[in-house]
Amino acid sequence: MQLPDGLPADIDLTRPSAARVYDYFLGGAHNFEIDRHLAEQIAGMTPNLAETMRAGRAFLRRGVRMLVQDGIDQFLDIGSGIPTVGNVHEVAQAINPEARIVYVDIDPVAVAHSRSILSDNEYTRVIHADLREPDRILAEAEKSGLLDLGRPVAVLLAGVVHFIPDADRPAEILATLRAATVPGSYLLLSHSTYEDQPPEMLDAQRLSARTATEITLRSRADITAFFGDFTIVEPGVVHLPLWRPDDPSDHDDHPERLGAFGAVGRHDRGVR
Ligand SMILES: C[S@@+](CC[C@H](N)C(=O)[O-])C[C@H]1O[C@@H](n2cnc3c(N)ncnc32)[C@H](O)[C@@H]1O
Repeated sequence: MQLPDGLPADIDLTRPSAARVYDYFLGGAHNFEIDRHLAEQIAGMTPNLAETMRAGRAFLRRGVRMLVQDGIDQFLDIGSGIPTVGNVHEVAQAINPEARIVYVDIDPVAVAHSRSILSDNEYTRVIHADLREPDRILAEAEKSGLLDLGRPVAVLLAGVVHFIPDADRPAEILATLRAATVPGSYLLLSHSTYEDQPPEMLDAQRLSARTATEITLRSRADITAFFGDFTIVEPGVVHLPLWRPDDPSDHDDHPERLGAFGAVGRHDRGVR
């Protein structure tokens, strides 16, 4: 198979990649036949999945727009995937061309695609790292010279914490990230849930959790706790389409169907 420009030769294009499957669901161009095939299989098992992924990216875009408008000009986006189709740097730099974004992903394919796409963008960096090593991520983000953690930053964890099982202590990871920020900083989080799900959807989610995606569904209370003492901004921890929709008609009567919560919290003075 022909390797696209700029991708390292050691990338295996004979196996599907989770990041490229996700890119396909989002309507991106950074995927191959083998990824599209797997995506169709997954979509057959969990019909709402593609919609949930698009709703997740749309929530991220609305959140980033709000953060830039609030003066945030540096972002640490962990579990960033392939930064295509209206991603963080596009949304942020459309408002502030000097907004800085450090993308972090565990998937070498996502990292290689990201570096290739962003090679001309002087205000972005891509780090290959695991969310389970938050201290390393923070150190590398600072070392990149792009982020200054002495100033307010937005930590973005969109659709990634549900990949961390309880045994890997996600609450401690979140506490480390929050503690590294100064007042005025923000945390944006989206996370799959079992709450408010009709029984048949829950069955489908359990099935997909066991097979293709291995995610840990959590309650609204669990997800709220990830914010610690941060102040959760309006409208709170809500189903993704309900988080500051551009237009009330942007969602139907059953936003819970997508099975994921989103929220944004602010580090106010005197809390950690
Ligand atoms: C569902 S995608 C979300 C992409 C993007 N944040 C968005 O919302 O559009 C999840 C991403 O998290 C990455 N990921 C999964 N586990 C991770 C970990 N432990 N550390 C860093 N990234 C991880 C995957 O490789 C994938 O690119």
